[in-house]
Amino acid sequence: MKIMVTGGTGYIGSHTAIELIQAGHEVEILDNLFNSKESVLDKIAEIAGTRPVFYNCDLLDYAKVLEIFQNGKYDVVLHFAGLKAVGESVEQPVRYYENNITGTVNLLKAMQETGVSKIIFSSSATVYGDAGAILSEDSETGHGITNPYGQTKFMIEQILRDICVADSTFSATVLRYFNPVGNHPSGLIGEDPNGRPNNLMPIVMKVATGEIPELSIFGNDYPTEDGTCKRDYIHVVDLAKGHLAALEHMKPGFVPYNLGTGKATSVIEMVKAFEEAAGRPLPHKFAERRAGDLPELCANPAKAEKELGWKAEFTVADAMRDTLKFLGKE
Ligand code: NAD
Ligand code: UD1
Repeated sequence: MKIMVTGGTGYIGSHTAIELIQAGHEVEILDNLFNSKESVLDKIAEIAGTRPVFYNCDLLDYAKVLEIFQNGKYDVVLHFAGLKAVGESVEQPVRYYENNITGTVNLLKAMQETGVSKIIFSSSATVYGDAGAILSEDSETGHGITNPYGQTKFMIEQILRDICVADSTFSATVLRYFNPVGNHPSGLIGEDPNGRPNNLMPIVMKVATGEIPELSIFGNDYPTEDGTCKRDYIHVVDLAKGHLAALEHMKPGFVPYNLGTGKATSVIEMVKAFEEAAGRPLPHKFAERRAGDLPELCANPAKAEKELGWKAEFTVADAMRDTLKFLGKE
């Protein structure tokens, strides 16, 4: 298949591009390089053997997006492009709504104009808001979302639902990621955000390299075994393979899947896993709770396993090993 990957030079998009190329698909990438580097394309080529055609393009530039689609004749779109920093989205809501919503609407318009009727969208467990600790696809979405970033994911899901109502041939597969970690086992590509990170693993990586002196663990008085929050951390290569499985099983309509492992790990367990892989301590301290954090979030991944034949295979220990390799510390 000929596949357009928006945001394909980013963290999850680049890992997915590798899996797609290795499975024999033709991949083209559109990205404005806001949060990624063009050199990732050479690494994809090194790992997968083919350098994807690349368009340095902003989804907000509709004329350019349309031109790319008119020439591209794509079978399907994998849509990763978006801004994703939760705290920043609270400070700059208009920028987040414009980039993520208007960008997606432009993409959908270009797809409609050029007859592309299949999309796989990078959604997030954040759409479940405060629905509970163990989440299935039929758990409530949209209630208790605490930030504009999460709202954009929920709103884009709604836009895709509406298109599926209007057009019964349209396929919108929505992948709700839990917490992606790790990187390609080659160590050639990984999470390399521009600017100061907010998520746990990019911060752990900066503590490991000495760029940040210590990890602040946000809260140790939660109602969990060790008092720190638990999350479902999924290796990014498993996540990438989930996209391939979703692509192979696409069907018309709005179809959401959780991509998670079904196992929750606490922050302290993550620190210990890193220390074991690295063979040295990771400087850390306990700090105040972070506003908006829930004690425990975990996927029920049964639907993806049943319908897509996909299951996460890597462990948190594998993610730590690969992270160290990416950092050049192994
Ligand atoms: P990333 O920032 O590494 O990749 C996103 C890419 O999109 C970047 O390369 C960026 O330059 C590009 N981009 C942003 N706005 C654009 C625009 N207007 N036009 C063109 N390109 C644009 O992020 P990621 O971690 O790879 O996430 C990919 C997708 O998965 C995002 O939609 C994100 O919200 C979603 N997601 C990520 C996580 C996570 O923890 N990493 C969790 C759940 C969902
Ligand atoms: C966060 C977002 C979520 C988004 C997801 C993307 C919030 C409230 N939620 O989820 O909307 O979809 O990122 O991956 O921002 N932690 C520390 N110290 C740190 C950083 C994190 O202790 O310096 C802890 C957090 O309290 C949390 C865990 O590590 O318990 C994971 O945090 P993070 O990587 O930010 O992910 P989420 O909060 O699950």
